[in-house]
This record gives sequence, structure tokens and C-alpha cells, in this order.
Amino acid sequence: MAKNYIVVGGSSGIGYEITRQLTQKGHNVTVLSRSNGELGSLSNVSHIEYDVTSNEGPKLDLETVDGFAYCPGTINLKPFHGLKSDDFQDDFEVNVKGAVKTLQSVVKTMKKTEGSSIVFFSTVAVSQGMPFHASVAASKGALEGITRSLAAELAPKVRVNCIALSVTDTPLASRILSSDEKKKSSGERHALNRVGSAEEVARLATFLLSDDSSWMTGQIIGLDGGMSAVRPL
Ligand SMILES: NC(=O)c1ccc[n+]([C@@H]2O[C@H](COP(=O)([O-])OP(=O)(O)OC[C@H]3O[C@@H](n4cnc5c(N)ncnc54)[C@H](OP(=O)(O)O)[C@@H]3O)[C@@H](O)[C@H]2O)c1
Repeated sequence: MAKNYIVVGGSSGIGYEITRQLTQKGHNVTVLSRSNGELGSLSNVSHIEYDVTSNEGPKLDLETVDGFAYCPGTINLKPFHGLKSDDFQDDFEVNVKGAVKTLQSVVKTMKKTEGSSIVFFSTVAVSQGMPFHASVAASKGALEGITRSLAAELAPKVRVNCIALSVTDTPLASRILSSDEKKKSSGERHALNRVGSAEEVARLATFLLSDDSSWMTGQIIGLDGGMSAVRPL
């Protein structure tokens, strides 16, 4: 049966790929993002123009919401001494407050929809100390806290999980992966010897959004080519 999903940040990168995979399975997706991106090529998608840093939450009028994925994020890497209060503020706006605002606009509907599921995205830099990641790790660490807290608060009606990524080849990572050389050296930091793809990440996200993961909640799942657990020789 066709389900109704919301993908915040579904116009590019991982969110686009989640949207594509969900619509390919016959589901309907409402995408919230500032631009339409590549969405024109997909059917069963409605796009709502929305900036997650705006003061107001989005106006969503859906009768059922089976799943919600929040994909906007930041890679703001700077030495600690150069980080300004605004850096922390900006990262928090996009990674945390945007997630809260958008989810609050649909959470009541999700509680009424049997077996609904929420997916957030974090970074391996929360569990592994990495230089220059203080601001983004602080924001994503907060999002991991929200994941566990909401998983408790919304159980048993709504499941909440979070995928903690290492470098994935998307527009967000384009500066880190701007040449074949950079891509190769980034890949070599992982036991699986390469960076991830949006398609691989979306496969896990759509699993978490589906009933196939019906006994999973409150989890921070590492999807990172081994980065969080395996040290290459
Ligand atoms: N790629 C990586 O290496 C990596 C690593 C660790 C964690 N992650 C996390 O994975 C998630 C997905 O990342 P990605 O690589 O797919 O990012 P991406 O390629 O930059 O895509 C982000 C999506 O969010 C939307 N977005 C960004 N800012 C927005 C705003 N202010 N208001 C509304 N929509 C906004 C963008 O659309 P518009 O521009 O049209 O608004 C786009 O659809 C993020 O949470 C990121 O932090 C990624």
C-alpha cells in the first residue's frame, strides 16, 4: 500500500535519493527544501518551498504521515580558535532547530499513523574525536540526544533512529571530494577503502522508514565504511 512520507531536504544528495527510492516503491513524498533541485524528474512528489532556518514552522496539512526524514546538514570545519559564536549558532539552526521545527509540525499526525518512523542524520565525528569538527559535532551530538529522548517519548507509536555517517559523495561534501586525489585519500581513511554514496545511505534510511525495521528504535547506526569501529592497517 502506498504510504505518505516527508523528506526535509529532499532536493539533492541523500534526501533526493531517499525520495527517489520511496517513489520508486510507489509511495508519496512531500519534500521541503529551498529549491526544487532535481525533483522535476520524479512522480508522486510534492515540493513545498521552505527554509529550515526561518522562524515559522512549515504549514503541512496531511492526514497521515508514515515517515519523516530530516536531511539538511552542515560541514563547517574550522580550527577551534577560529570558531565564532555564530558558527555554533548557524550549525545549531540547521542541524537541530530545523529538525525540531519541522518535526513539531507533523508529530501529532505521526502519532495517529500506525507504525510511523523518523530518521535523522548525524556524523561519525560525534563518537570519534576529529580535529576541526567541534561545532558540527556539538550540533549532531544534540541531535543524537534528541533521537534517544524522542524514541522514549514517542514509543510505542513512533520509532526514531539516527544514521551517523562518514564522508558520503553528495553536494554537501563536494569541497572535501573536489578532485579524484582528494576522493582517494578520503576513501583510504576507511577500512572499506572508499567514501560512501547517497544510494547506499538512502537504502538504510528507507529500511529504517519502513516496517522492515519495526523493532528498532532509539538507535544511532554507524554507516561509515568501518570508520567508527575498524582501524585499517
Ligand atoms: N555528505 C556527507 O559527507 C555527510 C557526512 C556526515 C553527515 N552527513 C549528514 O547527512 C545529511 C544529508 O546530507 P547530504 O550530504 O545529502 O547534504 P546535501 O547534499 O547538502 O543536501 C541537503 C539537502 O537539505 C536541503 N537544505 C539545506 N539547507 C536547507 C535549509 N536551510 N532549508 C531547507 N532545506 C535545506 C538542501 O536543499 P536546498 O538547498 O534546495 O534547500 C538539500 O536538499 C545531513 O544531515 C548531513 O549533515 C553528511
